[in-house]
Amino acid sequence: MFAQRLTEDGGLIVTHFDTVFNRLDDLPVTRAMAYATTGGKRLRGFLVLESARLHDVAPATAIWPACAIEALHAYSLVHDDLPCMDDDDLRRGRPTVHVAFDETTAVLAGDALQTLAFELAAHPDCGPAQVRADLALSLAQASGAQGMVLGQALDIAAESTDTPLTLEQITHLQAGKTGALITWSACAGAVLAQAEPEPLRQYAQALGLAFQIADDILDEEGDAEKAGKRLRKDADAGKATFVSLLGLEAAKSRAADLVDQACTAVDVYGDRAETLRDAARFVISRES
Ligand code: IPE
Ligand code: IPE
Ligand code: MG
Ligand code: MG
Ligand code: MG
Repeated sequence: MFAQRLTEDGGLIVTHFDTVFNRLDDLPVTRAMAYATTGGKRLRGFLVLESARLHDVAPATAIWPACAIEALHAYSLVHDDLPCMDDDDLRRGRPTVHVAFDETTAVLAGDALQTLAFELAAHPDCGPAQVRADLALSLAQASGAQGMVLGQALDIAAESTDTPLTLEQITHLQAGKTGALITWSACAGAVLAQAEPEPLRQYAQALGLAFQIADDILDEEGDAEKAGKRLRKDADAGKATFVSLLGLEAAKSRAADLVDQACTAVDVYGDRAETLRDAARFVISRES
């Protein structure tokens, strides 16, 4: 059920992005934006669409915030891969944006994807003004210096410190870097329906952490061909991860505990949340 949903939702996202990008002038920057939003698992977009279904909000409405978060996420990856950040040349099985285009275009495409995300989240088709304002405000909080950017800054800073981060510090770093956008995605359905987002927030906080631990485990022992990106880079770069602190086995068991927590957090929704529970189980078994 989950695998099929992820594929179907991915299809909706591709179609919607096509319409959005077709309206833009044909320039290197817009081609780079479309390139950066191609491929990937689209887990965040799925979380928006699925949490919306849970609240009886139709995909035709939820597709706007689903594409918003995929655009924001794509921007974060374009900048994450830049030579001044992780310096990666492969992403989603293809050359990274600054390699396929150039560095200037990659910076600008990232910038424009970020603002596009807010345009989509505030689009009139998302619902009443209050909903659109809530989506845009929470997206700003999740993306910036209290969220994703904070996590990225702490991640880069940890590369040049000699003292290893504590478990608490790594949890804080990862909650920003990965957790904030995942939490926004899973709460979006409740925001669209103007319903209580707390169970989804609990679910997503556990899921987000499990997701980043799985990413760190993949970096250590994954198959680069399947992952579509360069691996075995975190240790060399001196990244602070759960794997670097706890070792592989303890990191795996921590991730499994978090998945159990995520599944329990959505108990209030009963069987209707089964696809979300499957998504949580997928997050730690994935190979890409
Ligand atoms: C990769 O995210 C970057 C992290 C936050 C760990 P994903 O693993 O969701 O990347 P795509 O979108 O599927 O390529
Ligand atoms: C990237 O984390 C997180 C964001 C882009 C916010 P990583 O640097 O661990 O992601 P990968 O391993 O390059 O996909
Ligand atoms: Mg990084
Ligand atoms: Mg990286
Ligand atoms: Mg990584």
